[in-house]
Amino acid sequence: MLDVIETITAKRDGRALSDTAIRSLISAYARGLVPDYQMSAFLMAAFLKGLSTRETTALTDCMLQSGIVLDFSGISGAKVDKHSTGGVGDKISLVLAPMAAACQVRVPMISGRALGHTGGTLDKLESIPGFSTDVDLARMRQQLGDLGVVMLGQTEEIAPADGLLYALRDVTATVDFIPFITASIMSKKLAEGLDGLVLDVKTGRGAFMKTRAAARDLAEMLVLLGEKFGVSTVAWLTNMDTPLGFKIGNWLEVEESIDCLTGCGPADVVSLSVQLCGEMLVLAKRADTVKQGKEIAQESIDSGRAFESLLNLVAAQGGDVSVIEHPSKRKRTVEPEPVCAPDHARGFVSDLDAFQLGLAATEMGTGRFTKEDEVDPEAGIVLHKRPGDAVIPNEELATFYTRKRALREQFAQTIRNAYSFKAKAPAAGNILIDRLSAEGWTHRS
Ligand code: URA
Repeated sequence: MLDVIETITAKRDGRALSDTAIRSLISAYARGLVPDYQMSAFLMAAFLKGLSTRETTALTDCMLQSGIVLDFSGISGAKVDKHSTGGVGDKISLVLAPMAAACQVRVPMISGRALGHTGGTLDKLESIPGFSTDVDLARMRQQLGDLGVVMLGQTEEIAPADGLLYALRDVTATVDFIPFITASIMSKKLAEGLDGLVLDVKTGRGAFMKTRAAARDLAEMLVLLGEKFGVSTVAWLTNMDTPLGFKIGNWLEVEESIDCLTGCGPADVVSLSVQLCGEMLVLAKRADTVKQGKEIAQESIDSGRAFESLLNLVAAQGGDVSVIEHPSKRKRTVEPEPVCAPDHARGFVSDLDAFQLGLAATEMGTGRFTKEDEVDPEAGIVLHKRPGDAVIPNEELATFYTRKRALREQFAQTIRNAYSFKAKAPAAGNILIDRLSAEGWTHRS
């Protein structure tokens, strides 16, 4: 018999919960048998008193078991996915999923929407006219077999307990807690029936994990859980102090992803995509080393196969292929607004604050403040200057797009304030920080 009050009391008093207590609570909540006020009390007690690795494992398992676990064993080849903990200008999934499929990895990618100041892969994909991310499981299976890649949103069949708990965490100040984040991410990813998983754990101003220590703790918990559930898992800690690439916004990021897949993308986005693809190829046993995997990934861009894979993906999910072939064909209905460098901007851009830019872009319409908000596919920011670039007063730093014309001055000021300038060029930073696999950490910087 489930005694909800006893479970809440035990956690409130800092006692460890048995697997059975956690399982009973979560499965009863998923079936509507525990009211939100009791679950909220439990969430806050766990947030304040902590959950051990064993408790986090039990929580992940029952969130996973609240829905179906996909079985793609009837489809030949290894199934490997990538998950990012969220950033600004993070269009890596749009580049990586078709690229990995072009390298013979099967990618059943279930993604999310914009969250806080960070963008969402589903919103980006839906900025392609006609593209549907609402794919049922039969079609998911069919497309994974035919094309090797399918990109969709979470369905009600996959980890439904996470959907319910996430909504409650969102309104009870219990989102940013590593055991909950781990259980939330891994319950969805483990449901994909994967052989391997690559995690991009972002750290820095524009990430949810602001400090390296917190990002490392999250990476360790994610990799531990992946391995415990039999999925080979690798995590990279990557820098999210400044945005990835030059473009922030839904369609803008699709444009930049097309650039990456046609060989003219920004170096940081291309190199991170190629690195993560190299990791996916090793997990899929398509390469012996990450170095070899990266060479295969780069070759898929050079040969045009990665771009062709994107075209096939867009066509299969109802998108307008002509705007992928010719991005300028997509009609623009929002006027560009320039942002110029201030008078003291002499020398070089020394820093660029991803968090401020992410917040500004969200307000412009790239993301949501309430669940009901509609995202604007055209809204966003194009950076013309990034850290290390030379600059003089009045030179154009960025262009932005928004329908909120009354806020134009405020947006221009926020973007200007996100920039710092110095007389000397800053040292070039590295996006890749540290790598974690079942064998432990490898340090890059
Ligand atoms: N992404 C998720 O899916 N869940 C979290 O809790 C945080 C980020």
